[in-house]
Amino acid sequence: MRNFSKVLVTGGCGFIGSNFIRYILDATDWHIINLDALTYAGNPENLSDIADNPRYQFIKGRIEDPEVVYPLMKNVDLVVNFAAESHVDRSIHSAIPFIRTNVEGTQVLLDGARLGKKVKLFVHVSTDEVYGSLKKDDPPFNEENPLKPNSPYSASKASSDMLVRACFKTHDFPCIITRCSNNYGPYQFPEKLIPLMILNALEEKPLPIYGDGLNIRDWIYVLDHCAGILAVIEKGKIGSIYNLGGECEKTNLEVVKTILNILGKDESLIQFVKDRPGHDRRYAMDISLAKKELGWAPKMSFKKGIEYTIDWYIKNKSWWQRIRSGEYLKFYEKHYNMLGLKKED
Ligand code: NAD
Ligand code: DAU
Repeated sequence: MRNFSKVLVTGGCGFIGSNFIRYILDATDWHIINLDALTYAGNPENLSDIADNPRYQFIKGRIEDPEVVYPLMKNVDLVVNFAAESHVDRSIHSAIPFIRTNVEGTQVLLDGARLGKKVKLFVHVSTDEVYGSLKKDDPPFNEENPLKPNSPYSASKASSDMLVRACFKTHDFPCIITRCSNNYGPYQFPEKLIPLMILNALEEKPLPIYGDGLNIRDWIYVLDHCAGILAVIEKGKIGSIYNLGGECEKTNLEVVKTILNILGKDESLIQFVKDRPGHDRRYAMDISLAKKELGWAPKMSFKKGIEYTIDWYIKNKSWWQRIRSGEYLKFYEKHYNMLGLKKED
């Protein structure tokens, strides 16, 4: 089993990155440097409970800035790259920030890690969306599936995966790629389906469902994803790709009705709106390689995970109220217009 002493985590103030930092502070004795640009999705409050931990250091900066990245690489032996523009709808509005961060940023990290000569492993956190879309009866994606991304977001993630692969093949630099399905849990920014629906339901606002609501996603609780990444770090084969997923396929309508049911809210809050352009119909992951080689499997049931998540949002009202009253709202209003709804709808 591999061990490390100092880890560079990028994007650690976002949803999965902040859960991961808390998780590995607990599970290991590693020191962590968190490099995050604090975009609209990056929130230092996500880590306020561990900010004073002597094994944790925060640095504000962009992964595509070599002046920030290169010096850091001389001082760490592991890199875990979460930093990304992560929201599909935003990539439809404006793709360039996705290219800068997800593509250029990944290459700067790879160059810095390789040239710094101290990094022993580079783990790149990617997504099932790089494989494209499945039909109802297709088998789940496995690691051999071709990459057929359909949104600017997934195209930028597929590009970054290719750059990681090229770095391994060309320079023999130790890299591993993880591809995970849809995460949910505490600290997820309320533009994504599950937190958006929980908060709109709590505030009795309409719940906008794109198209017919029958698109399928595979849902994984965020700490199961974090455990999968740690298993990859400790045991993953260099140069490999590992699919991670929750083995929990659900239509969006099922997810939203479950949330309404737990909150005791009426289904009349559901509002069908114009479909997302290029909307992928179904994602599903074959995770047998990760099970076999890493001994990892997701543990949290959707029932328990969603109940816990809803409870977290109820108990952390000030966290999301600050977000919903600020910059996010401006985007949401614009987005709402794009979907053919008026603000007052
Ligand atoms: P997020 O949007 O919540 O967080 C992204 C973080 O990256 C933020 O803290 C942001 O400030 C930071 N960041 C953005 N651009 C940066 C830059 N140029 N330099 C430094 N920091 C920057 O995203 P998330 O949902 O936590 O996703 C994290 C990673 O996991 C992403 O790479 C995403 O593609 C991948 N992923 C996400 C999911 C999911 O369901 N959310 C599933 C599979 C894979
Ligand atoms: O599959 C992994 C991916 O999951 C990650 O790589 C992405 O970073 C993450 O954002 C997520 O992408 P999705 O597009 O699947 O997630 P999102 O929460 O935006 O949407 C989930 C589904 O819900 C999708 O079919 C679109 C639908 N949806 C979403 C929103 C925000 C709605 O119907 N209404 C909405 O308002």
